[in-house]
Amino acid sequence: MKEDKNLDIFPDQFFWGASTASHQVEGNNNNQWSRWELEYAKEFAQGAHERLGELPDWKTIKPKAEDPDNYVSGKGVDHFRRYKEDFDTVKDLNLNAFRFGIEWSRLEPEEGKWDASAFAHYKTYIAELRRRGIEPFMNIWHWTEPTWFADKGGFEKHANLVYFDRLVEKISQELLDDIGYVITLNEPNVYASFSYLTGEWPPQKKSMVTFLAVYWNLTRAHRRAYRILKKKKPSLHVGVAAQLANIQAKRPHNMLDNFSTKWMRYFWNWWFLNRIRNQQDFIGFNYYFTDYYTGMLKQKNPEVPKNDLGWYMEPEGLYPLLLRVWSHYKKPIIITENGVADGDDQYRRWWIEETIVAMERVLSEGVDLRGYFHWSLLDNFEWKYGWWPKFGLVAVDRQNGMKRTIRPSARWFADRIKRISS
Ligand code: BGC
Repeated sequence: MKEDKNLDIFPDQFFWGASTASHQVEGNNNNQWSRWELEYAKEFAQGAHERLGELPDWKTIKPKAEDPDNYVSGKGVDHFRRYKEDFDTVKDLNLNAFRFGIEWSRLEPEEGKWDASAFAHYKTYIAELRRRGIEPFMNIWHWTEPTWFADKGGFEKHANLVYFDRLVEKISQELLDDIGYVITLNEPNVYASFSYLTGEWPPQKKSMVTFLAVYWNLTRAHRRAYRILKKKKPSLHVGVAAQLANIQAKRPHNMLDNFSTKWMRYFWNWWFLNRIRNQQDFIGFNYYFTDYYTGMLKQKNPEVPKNDLGWYMEPEGLYPLLLRVWSHYKKPIIITENGVADGDDQYRRWWIEETIVAMERVLSEGVDLRGYFHWSLLDNFEWKYGWWPKFGLVAVDRQNGMKRTIRPSARWFADRIKRISS
């Protein structure tokens, strides 16, 4: 009984959704990332043991991680063609919202040349979501870019922002009719760090100056996109999908731990959002990590529980994070991604259950939380790790005709949503 009472806390209009990104599911993409995969797949396979050998499940992962094919997005999970079937699954899972990416390299494969068939595809795609009563959340940029844009220096150069403006302008003209929610950028902090500071992702640069330029330019890109989108359709809800972590001091009484914790919270969580404070209708963020800090920037997380990627899992860390987001911005909040790499589906249900508890707690405290999107609907291409990490509510067997199988945790989640919504 008590549990049912808590379930009442969710507003009737709450968005229960799942998230995807174009490059991770569509298949046959031709962008700066797919070009990079082909170039480095062999090297990644050879270095797999060195990079991943410490993972608890290394023996199971090994055959896949040492196979160059693992690092090539290739046919994806064929979502570009199978999207209707996938939307039926969204509906079966009792979800009422879906976050998807549109692929810039399809829309503008050559500089200034728009592909009408790609626009037609996404128009139908959006219409098919609407037809099923699923609210489409359109994500414009999720790290991939046409090769011509990347070759000009991408977001490193302020002068290149005009190309992004032009894309947003074109999207505003062609794709907004059936859209109420737009996410402009996904995780600018993660992209800027991995692509320009640690050099792990394309274009593999390691320069503090370039990192800062990209990070700064992405704030401008968002602000300009916001203006273009809202001018075209003032009723639109526009935001980003920021990557926020629950950052905590390992030893709360220690001055150094406290200092690094405060600094990291500011730099990782708030810096970008502060800069676009007046150009957001909702605060969208992705939650995966609780990070403990010992001393200056040194991370020491608990050993267990860890997911297949070796990421320490603390789903309830969402609670303090939500409270902080609310007290900083006082705007509607949408959790745009949240999930676990869990091939055996042994943690996912627990993760979602604890996440729901965290959401119930903040709702009962008056936080204006409007939606939750699980990452991801489908097993997908996990960037530099490739295909072996499994984030899907739905498993995809790429060796067996891309067969989709709903995981038990997803069935449980669907049932939970039904009870909450009825
Ligand atoms: C990204 C996704 C990614 C997920 C799991 C998020 O940071 O937006 O693209 O697959 O994390 O790593």
